[in-house]
Amino acid sequence: MKRVFSGVQPTGNIHLGNYLGALKQFVELQNDHECIYCIVDLHAITVPQDPKVLREHILDVASLYLAVGINPSKSIVFVQSDVPGHVELSWVLTCCSYTGELYRMTQFKAKSHNKESAPAGLLTYPVLMAADILLYDTDIVPVGNDQKQHIELTRDLAIRVNNTRKKTFVVPEGRYMKEGARIMALDDPRQKMSKSAENVHSRISLLDEPSKIKKSIMKATTDSDGIIRFDPENKPGISNLLNIYSVLSGQSIDDITADYDGKGYGDFKKDLVEITVDALAPIKARYEEIRYSDELRTILKDGAERAGAIAEKTMKRVKENFGLGL
Ligand code: AMP
Ligand code: TRP
Repeated sequence: MKRVFSGVQPTGNIHLGNYLGALKQFVELQNDHECIYCIVDLHAITVPQDPKVLREHILDVASLYLAVGINPSKSIVFVQSDVPGHVELSWVLTCCSYTGELYRMTQFKAKSHNKESAPAGLLTYPVLMAADILLYDTDIVPVGNDQKQHIELTRDLAIRVNNTRKKTFVVPEGRYMKEGARIMALDDPRQKMSKSAENVHSRISLLDEPSKIKKSIMKATTDSDGIIRFDPENKPGISNLLNIYSVLSGQSIDDITADYDGKGYGDFKKDLVEITVDALAPIKARYEEIRYSDELRTILKDGAERAGAIAEKTMKRVKENFGLGL
């Protein structure tokens, strides 16, 4: 079986876009892959974090992973900083990276604003990500398109080490989320739905109350021609809602538009509220069951042990090939 690895940062506001674009795929991959899903807390501290809030977010995201259907008896779920190999390998790979290639990363440029005081961790962030992936002899990395450059760097580093030392790493492949899986903001359908947008009605968070879901959907930006038709170019608002309706209900967009022929946006939105509330209810219920349970800690501890055992083997090989330690 091929091995899958992916990481998600511990932040709040995990939303419908994250679910449909990423988490749902994580769940599906479990059927025919050996999956390792990591909560990347070490990546989170490249920007300032309140320690209490960070700890809560780690547990929030872990609970959501499990609530959406990641099965800890099939997949490994763990917290990055619980396995020391990530930082160890990250240093080794830092020594194999060129400063030029790191300065060229678009995410570094966007986040550092050219400031001398930009944290060095922002620059080496992609090396830590490469370490995450290479530590587990990963074959496939499901991620968003925005991570493409980081995956390419990971592959370059793996190939560079393999060519200059003994073969040490498996060279992974990125698996990028489909364009169609992109969920747009409800208040501005030309923007991606995002965790950080100020307007809470721009997104549906997975743990939103039904009343909040209703308000966000009923307020969602549409257009004035009143026809329910899929046309992302000219009708981005209604097309985004049709997309959400389709993925949550399993019905094709053609069938949905046929059903609503002659009906108004109000009716369509009311039904979408119901579908969304029904789809998220079991996730929310499972989340609440697990979030403050002892089971959560046990799962993460067990995950860290299983991940740690794989990581240790890789680090042994790395140390041997680099002549480190005894
Ligand atoms: P982020 O929210 O940027 O940390 O992204 C976490 C994962 O969710 C990534 O794999 C993204 O590709 C995916 N994702 C984030 N926002 C959306 C969105 N609006 N639609 C679809 N997928 C998304
Ligand atoms: N950089 C990724 C993001 O912001 C998160 C991440 C860290 C990751 N390590 C990873 C994703 C390893 C895949 C594999 O979304």
